[in-house]
This record gives sequence, C-alpha cells and structure tokens, in this order.
Amino acid sequence: MPSTRGKGESGFNPPAEHVRAAVEAATWAPSVHNTQPWLFTWSGDRITVRADADRRLSVADPEGREMLISCGAAIFTLRVAARHLGYEPEVALLPDPDRPHLLADVSLRERAPESEDNGRLYGEIRRRRTHRGAFKPDPVAEALLSVLRQEAQSEGATLRIIVDAPTRGAIAALTVAAEHVHQRTPSYAGELARWAPAPGNPRREGVHEGAYPKEAPHTEPHFPGRDFARGHGWGTAAEERPVDWPDEPVTGVACVLTTKGDEAEDWLRAGQALQRVLLRASVEEDVSAAFHTQALEIPELREFIRTRFCAGEHPQLVLRLGAATGEFATVRRPVEHVLTEEA
Ligand SMILES: Cc1cc2nc3c(=O)[nH]c(=O)nc-3n(C[C@H](O)[C@H](O)[C@H](O)COP(=O)(O)O)c2cc1C
Repeated sequence: MPSTRGKGESGFNPPAEHVRAAVEAATWAPSVHNTQPWLFTWSGDRITVRADADRRLSVADPEGREMLISCGAAIFTLRVAARHLGYEPEVALLPDPDRPHLLADVSLRERAPESEDNGRLYGEIRRRRTHRGAFKPDPVAEALLSVLRQEAQSEGATLRIIVDAPTRGAIAALTVAAEHVHQRTPSYAGELARWAPAPGNPRREGVHEGAYPKEAPHTEPHFPGRDFARGHGWGTAAEERPVDWPDEPVTGVACVLTTKGDEAEDWLRAGQALQRVLLRASVEEDVSAAFHTQALEIPELREFIRTRFCAGEHPQLVLRLGAATGEFATVRRPVEHVLTEEA
C-alpha cells in the first residue's frame, strides 16, 4: 500500500525505516534518572519531539528543566542520526508557543552525504555511558577541554571548567549538602525509588543496579552520587584496582554547563550542548562524564552556584570528566513505545 502521508515540500519523504532508525538512536541520549521523558511523532518528512510530562520528576524537577535538558540531548542525537542516514536535518525549536510540550520539529527534507566526523560521533551514541564513582588517574588533555568548550558554545551554552581548587571543593561540598537534604526529604526519596528499581526488575527505564557501583571510593574533593541503592547494598562490585594507581582515587575534571537565559529554549540548548560534549569527549579520548545535579535541584543552592561560580549564568548541569573505570550498563525502552506515525 502506498503511504497516504503528506509529502514534504521537496516531494521526498524519508522511508519509515529511516525515521525509526533515527528515533531509535535518539532514545540513547542521557536523561535524568533515565526517565526517557520524550515522545516522537512522524508525518511526511517531519519528526516532532514532545516532552512526556508524565515522566517529569515532580519533586526534583517541578519546572521540567531537567526533563527539557534530557529532551534536548535526544534532539542532538536525532540530528546526528539523521546525518548518518544521509539527511541534513532542519530543526525548529518550540515551534508553537501555545503548546509548550511540543519541543521541536525536525525536518528530514534535505539529502546530504554524511561527513566522516559525524560518522564517528554516531558510533558513540550507543557506546557512551554515564560514569559513577572515581576515575582512572589518566589526565584529561587540555586540548580536549578546549574542544569541548567550543562544542558547548556552538550549541549556545558555556562549559565552565572549574580549575580553581577552592571552587571545586565548594561545589563538591554543596553537592554533599544537597544529597543530605534529598535523603531527608520523603517525597524526593519516594520519587527516586520509582526510578531506581530493585535488581532483576525487567523495566527498561530508570537506573538499575548495573549502572552504579556498590561502593564508590572517596575522592578529594568528593562529589557524592545519588543514593540509587537506598540502603539495600545494591550496585556493581568495583574492579580490582591496578597496582600502579595512585593511593587517592581521582575526582576528574569538574565542570558546570551554563546558559545565559533560563527558559525552555535555554534548557533545550543545554541538552543539545550536553550530548554534543559527551559524544565528542567519548570519540576523541574515550573520556566519560559523571553527573552531579543534586545541588541544582535545590533553588537556594542553584542560585548560590549561579552568582558565585558561574558569573551570573544559569547552571544547568554539574559534571566530572575522566577516564572511566569499568563499564556500567544501561537500558532503554523499545522505539515502538515512543514513536507513532501521525494519522
Ligand atoms: C539532566 C540530567 C541530569 C542527570 N543527573 C544525574 C545525577 O545527578 N546523577 C547521576 O548519577 N546521573 C545523572 N544523570 C545521568 C542519567 O542518570 C543517565 O543519563 C541515565 O541513567 C541513562 O544512562 P546512560 O547515560 O548511561 O545512558 C543525569 C542526566 C541528565 C540528562
């Protein structure tokens, strides 16, 4: 049966398997608590990205900021996947102000051969993993950090590398404070429980025990992880430490991703910058990122970080970069759960 879908302006519509492949790749973007808060519809040459508000963290993320950062990361991944399939994607962010959950229209109208560099980034989409715990002692090259700054800038965000030790210590201490507050807030703990299932749970969402260490070594300064195990002792056992490692486990390079504004469009841009930075770090030097966004979920702490350490720009993510020890596992829902064709 020929498709009855409307054709794009050029008269060319991407085949269904291309749309499916591009969206499937996009679902490998990182998302807060692996909520995968996105929905995709498709009509003619256009893929529409929507936020799935049922997956917003109503306690930790009442405004949906982290939800939109996650969706922004999926939009960047969709762009890379579209190029891989031979399209030049055209992205319209927030195309209808009256429908705030409608985040982007991505048109696959233009055909264009893929660049070699895009092919390399594409290869990292499924390989990249969030790291949790200390890093290997290998330093992150200055040259890579400068490339990562440029990558963030190309998407309209700033990657601030925190070189100053007192500032790094202060942001780590604020993360410790935030983690204390979170663990003592029953509504937050309940929300985390929903997204941190017990071992053996077959759900293909949330942070499972294969994604975090049983015990994270203490680094100096120490950025605590989220309490996904919730006192149950779940988690992946640490690899044996090679004998030539230094005594002190390594924190890695602390950074804060910031934006000038703090509206939906800024969050989508921050998410695109995030995934651009993550894929670049992974492909160039096999560098991974650990996320520590707890302090940014407490308005007073976020405001303090903004005014004291980010030159007034809005902090969207706190990250550590380094060479990962071991490999963590992650899960995703099947593409059929998030993609529908518009009638
Ligand atoms: C906006 C945002 C905030 C996040 N915050 C944290 C965090 O505070 N701690 C953490 O361990 N992971 C955090 N993550 C990483 C997610 O948990 C991770 O992307 C998700 O579990 C999927 O795993 P993967 O990145 O390995 O594919 C965050 C991701 C995003 C996009």
